[in-house]
Amino acid sequence: MIFDTHAHYDDEAFDKDRQELLGQMGSAGIGGIVNVGASVRGIRASQELAQQYPFIYAAVGVHPDEVGALDEKTLLWMYELCRRPKTVAVGEIGLDYYWDKEAHEFQKQWFIRQLQMAKDTGLPVNIHSREAAQDTFDIMKKYHAGTTGGIIHCFSSSAQMALEYVKLGYYIGIGGVVTFKNARVMKEVAAAVPIERIVVETDCPYLAPAPNRGKRNSSLYLPLVIEEIARIRGMMAQEVESAVWENAHQVYAKLRRA
Ligand code: NI
Repeated sequence: MIFDTHAHYDDEAFDKDRQELLGQMGSAGIGGIVNVGASVRGIRASQELAQQYPFIYAAVGVHPDEVGALDEKTLLWMYELCRRPKTVAVGEIGLDYYWDKEAHEFQKQWFIRQLQMAKDTGLPVNIHSREAAQDTFDIMKKYHAGTTGGIIHCFSSSAQMALEYVKLGYYIGIGGVVTFKNARVMKEVAAAVPIERIVVETDCPYLAPAPNRGKRNSSLYLPLVIEEIARIRGMMAQEVESAVWENAHQVYAKLRRA
């Protein structure tokens, strides 16, 4: 069975056929999905999906582009949601200097406060980092390293940086990008990180794997990601599939109690 550690089924791209699509997951071998909050609206929608579907779990967090919407009252509400049984992580949180929608200092401030929320509620984190590799790593090291762990989602830095995160106790999230022909660095990452520290994710509706690149992504395409990781590492797809299933349950520890 396959576990999708990072998806956005609340996205409007699924409005037309969400129920039908999610209804196919079980028979397609998709045994679990974490729907990740990115905005206040996304947090609420993730909770609703987790209530509706037994195999969907929620992460609670606000993406760096959206931190302008945060205040003390919202943070308290998020703390409450973190304590619900089906909330398995804090995320996605981090820094984004690519879209650069909020001032760097302001992004850092809310990143740190959400890391603190993860610590306070005993949850792992799901980290978003774009064009901000060094600042992200420095903050994680300073404020969080080795306490509750988590996943570096849609990892896009070097293999060397991936191994630094592994040393801190983190897992590396690999998705559709690894299947792209020109994704040399991502293929290096898939080869270099110990199999015990790899999890798979879609980030759907974005980043569909080849040969579906550019189309709407869903967890149904995860076998393509697993096959590519297996090919790169000289393993059998079945071996990779069971390893990443186990890893998802290691990092999202609450799944083992659910
Ligand atoms: Ni995402």
